[in-house]
Amino acid sequence: MGIITIDGPAGSGKSTISKLLAKELGISFLDTGAMYRALTLMAMNAGLDLQDSAKIKELFDKTELKFSSENNKTVVEINGVDCSDLIRSPQVTANVHFIAAAPILRESLVELQRQFAKEQGSIVTEGRDQGSVVFPDAEVKIYLNADVDQRANRRFKELQARGEKCDLQEIKDAIIARDCSDRNREVGSLKKAADAIEIDTSHMSIDEVVRVILEIVRK
Ligand code: DC
Repeated sequence: MGIITIDGPAGSGKSTISKLLAKELGISFLDTGAMYRALTLMAMNAGLDLQDSAKIKELFDKTELKFSSENNKTVVEINGVDCSDLIRSPQVTANVHFIAAAPILRESLVELQRQFAKEQGSIVTEGRDQGSVVFPDAEVKIYLNADVDQRANRRFKELQARGEKCDLQEIKDAIIARDCSDRNREVGSLKKAADAIEIDTSHMSIDEVVRVILEIVRK
């Protein structure tokens, strides 16, 4: 089957849809955002200056990072400690742009992503640069989009369902800020690969989107 890339902005439905798609196709799933988040958390925990990418790279080289999947959830272990929930905290979300903008850190993570694909053979991988930079020869490239109010609403409901206190306007502002840094960084920015198929998920259910992508893959 090969490589299926799913890129798009925060809240476009990438994670949920990619997991379901991978399950349906019986292949592995790679959550590349979790990798950037894990590196951010590691650097924060070590008290490093988040702009000092050389120091963060040193720490990364000494750290044991493990990514796996359990009941449709990405499990991230840093030196054997499960940090799957901590990497989703608002503090990590607010700081991840420092790591995402650092070329040497991106290089290391891109290498891990390509290695994972090589080991697995077939994968569904989601992120920002999977179709444009990491896997330019992927068999199927999808770019998911949705208007910002819908994306903020989805995040709001997700957090509420987890029992977390949240404010819709704050979530929307954070999404707008992240869109801006994701689109404007010099390396690995969020963009649709020229040969990617764009799907606007604003008014589609998750199942509909999965069905549309499955049709594309099976063609
Ligand atoms: O998909 P996510 O929200 O978990 O991603 C968190 C951040 O990680 C995102 O704002 C930018 C960065 N990221 C990236 O730069 N490249 C990727 N392939 C995936 C995520």
